[in-house]
Amino acid sequence: MRHAKSDARGSRHAELIGWWRAERRDLPWRHTRDPWLVLVSEVMLQQTQVDRVLPYFEAFAERWPTPEHFAAAELADLLAAWQGLGYPRRARNLWQAAAIITERHGGGVPTDLDDLLALPGVGRYTARAVQAFAFGIDTGVVDTNVGRILARWQGRRLSPREVQRIADDLVPEGESWAWNQAMMDLGAQVCTKRDPNCARCPAQRWCAWGSVVLDSEFSGQPDPADRSAGVSARQAPFEGSDRQARGRLLAAMSTSDIERAGAADAMHLERDEARAQRLVEELIAEGLITAVGDRIRLG
Ligand code: ADE
Repeated sequence: MRHAKSDARGSRHAELIGWWRAERRDLPWRHTRDPWLVLVSEVMLQQTQVDRVLPYFEAFAERWPTPEHFAAAELADLLAAWQGLGYPRRARNLWQAAAIITERHGGGVPTDLDDLLALPGVGRYTARAVQAFAFGIDTGVVDTNVGRILARWQGRRLSPREVQRIADDLVPEGESWAWNQAMMDLGAQVCTKRDPNCARCPAQRWCAWGSVVLDSEFSGQPDPADRSAGVSARQAPFEGSDRQARGRLLAAMSTSDIERAGAADAMHLERDEARAQRLVEELIAEGLITAVGDRIRLG
């Protein structure tokens, strides 16, 4: 019985990885196992689509190729280069992480899960992504896409603990890098949230939900990934958001400091000075901007 089970697993591994070798996306962070560059790419990919990340990853890899370079940079320069990628706290977190890596870990990104989790901006997903994609450690990398795939394979909602356990259990020994990359691509290209292409899916045979979908042409079957663990809710609208206003202000400061009194204009909040000043205060508290007299600047 145990034997039969492990054969079934072996064939899953061969099928998924085989599919992936034919269909994989050629992405620059897949050409490196450098732990720092893997960390940078994964932080960028946390909340941003692959296509938007590409030029930023290449620019950062070229300009700040090591944690030492990154830690020694001016935060203002990092934030200016981050401009347009969104969620700039990630740049500040990476900068703080680079300092910790340089000072406490001798310049080498740690391999240990708890050491990785102790770095600013590194959560369960990113820590395991670094373990798998830089160090080849056998661990399940669970992001939104993988959470959705596993809920569909199992045919039910899963708790965070279950998702991680199942993901860890599925990793074929010694093939963590390829397996986890394959899962990322399956989620991005086939097992998508709204329009899964079950007919083209290499996991069809063992997917509980796929068989239902293929038999009944969806026929109103609930998606087990809905509200399942690790499957995030939709992002709030960007238009009119604080995030949009903050982004505008940082963009206005990317080449030089500005007058604080001009912040509301820069944010297109001319008629809401109180909100503009609240956002300025928040950015100062987060360490993304600094007030010097009546002016504000990046960093
Ligand atoms: N999203 C997050 N990590 C990724 C990776 N390594 N490849 C493609 N998309 C990703």
